[in-house]
Amino acid sequence: MSKHVVATVAEIPPGGRKLVSVRGRPIAIFNLQGSFHGLLNRCPHQGGPMCEGIITGLVEATIPGEYRYTHRGEIIRCPWHGWEFDIRTGQSWCDPQKVNLRLYPIEVAPGQTVVKGPYVAETIPVSVENDYVVVEL
Ligand code: FES
Repeated sequence: MSKHVVATVAEIPPGGRKLVSVRGRPIAIFNLQGSFHGLLNRCPHQGGPMCEGIITGLVEATIPGEYRYTHRGEIIRCPWHGWEFDIRTGQSWCDPQKVNLRLYPIEVAPGQTVVKGPYVAETIPVSVENDYVVVEL
């Protein structure tokens, strides 16, 4: 399994999302209060674009007339027909035993470990003088 840099942390603020493509796979990345989660951007129902869905929560009830609003900001609703999925797990709420969204592991890596590679190229001093780029050899 290889790793791919797809965004800076600042590009996906808490509550935000970003659609990326890794090796041809569309992946919707969500930031839930600093916790990043990646889901396939293709709804298992008919392929709707999950990244364009409304982020919501769940209304749960144990008895009629009493309800609780839970999982606030953790549920994505498919924009095409409204199937809902848990962003953290990919679990569906229409048929949890059979229908899931594929999850992709997401990590936040310090810039130095991602940017600094094992190879070092020769550097040449460069300066800008009167709108010309000058290379010193
Ligand atoms: S395509 Fe997503 S609910 Fe139908």
